[in-house]
Amino acid sequence: MKGRVLVVDNDPQIREVLEMRLEALGLAVTAVAGPREALAALDAGGFDLALFDLKMEPMDGIALMETAHQRLPGLPVLIMTAHGSIEDAVAAIQRGAFDYLTKPFLPDELRARVGQALSERRWARDRGRLKAVGETLASSGVMERILDAVAQATVEATEAERSVVFLLEGGQAIPMASAGTQPKAWEPLQAAAAAAVEKGVPTTLIGAEGRVALAAPLVVKGGPVGALVVECPERVAPTPEDLELLALFSFQAAVALKNAHELSQLRSGALAALGRMAAQVAHELKNPLGGLKLYARHLEKRLAAAPDPELGELAQKIGRAIDHLANLVTEITAFGRPAELKREPVNVVQLLDECLALCQDRLARRHIRVSREYAPDVPVALLDPRELRKVFLNLLLNALEAMGDEGTLSVTVSHRPEEGMIQLTIEDSGCGMSEETLSRVFDLFFTTKPHGTGLGMAIARSVVDLHGGRIQIESRPGEGTRVHVLLPVRHP
Ligand SMILES: Nc1ncnc2c1ncn2[C@@H]1O[C@H](COP(=O)(O)OP(=O)(O)OP(=O)(O)O)[C@@H](O)[C@H]1O
Ligand SMILES: [Mg+2]
Repeated sequence: MKGRVLVVDNDPQIREVLEMRLEALGLAVTAVAGPREALAALDAGGFDLALFDLKMEPMDGIALMETAHQRLPGLPVLIMTAHGSIEDAVAAIQRGAFDYLTKPFLPDELRARVGQALSERRWARDRGRLKAVGETLASSGVMERILDAVAQATVEATEAERSVVFLLEGGQAIPMASAGTQPKAWEPLQAAAAAAVEKGVPTTLIGAEGRVALAAPLVVKGGPVGALVVECPERVAPTPEDLELLALFSFQAAVALKNAHELSQLRSGALAALGRMAAQVAHELKNPLGGLKLYARHLEKRLAAAPDPELGELAQKIGRAIDHLANLVTEITAFGRPAELKREPVNVVQLLDECLALCQDRLARRHIRVSREYAPDVPVALLDPRELRKVFLNLLLNALEAMGDEGTLSVTVSHRPEEGMIQLTIEDSGCGMSEETLSRVFDLFFTTKPHGTGLGMAIARSVVDLHGGRIQIESRPGEGTRVHVLLPVRHP
């Protein structure tokens, strides 16, 4: 048996007997004389089981158990009764004791009760952890978070030094998430992952310096997609139970991966359908809007000479509202059809400066510092300036909308010759994004603003994708947002 036991009894002889017998079972024992010392020991922590004498001063064993349970609700407690009074035993169990023991102790009975309490404890703890992982997984659809949660929970549950989740990519096991300490070498872990994937069952492998790696395959839809690997310190010999536990975790992880995959498929399918529908509706709106615009202009002209100036203003307002709708319709229609880029040599710095100039009215009467940092070696690139202007404007407007009356907007442009990319970063000191917002920011029509359309970021991403570039976002609630746009210098 493995575990730490706290024994509390004011009779030194009993303490000695229990210490001897429990240590003979392989347990680490702390024996103290009374409730006060017991509570101090419990505060130091780390116990898997407690044995309390029933009759003690100033509080009896049941009261001590209740106090202990306030701090450690899952701690199994065995209450020891001297005279085997069944009423006392029943009362103890009713109030939360795991079981009771009668003095004098019969060795077999002691072993059985202690063993049972410890194994129940282990399962309760593992169940608790699995439940926590399950909840994290159920509440998130994001793959990286799922893998991190799995790695973390595995380290906690198995007391391993580290755990790594590998996913198969092109036949190779690639580490995707890890928890615990950094491994000295990845190869033994990778070898363990490959072995588990090949065999299809949990596998043990002795690696460098006598370290033990346990690996369990992640099976989704009948086939292996990767493996969960833990590495233990040299002195720890894993038991079959450990392998079983690992298999349980990898099963849970595989289910989560499958769910995440299905969710993202569902999402992109639904989004594509939504996009097509929006484009059709927008198309239908185009002609009547054109007509309305003509009528409004006509009205504006007629009312310009009217004696009441308010009427003229009203007509102008109608005109502006129609313009706004027409712009929206154009954007949505553009989204529905795969755009073709009209590439020409573009100076990205100049284009960005033009967009900043267009945002000047949004800066008026606000204390927003604008900082620009442009590298001198940014090359001219083959890009579509019209499309990119939309991207930069959307990003700048989002940054300005995220800040109140004060803040800093920083724009930087740099050249990354080794990747053949130009990197543009727009950073604001605004409200930042929650994880939920961050995960949906590119979704069509996703907005948290009362008058937003939720098109800006979706358009930005589709334009950047078409260019063969990519957008990355770093953001935390209350700490501002940094958006990086990477654009290829050459036509890919
Ligand atoms: N810089 C930013 N700081 C904080 N939140 C942001 C930032 N950029 C985008 N967001 C969040 O992402 C959401 C989607 O942005 P997106 O630009 O697609 O739409 P929008 O700004 O709401 O509407 P619009 O169509 O008018 O641009 C925003 O509503 C906001 O919650
Ligand atoms: Mg926007």
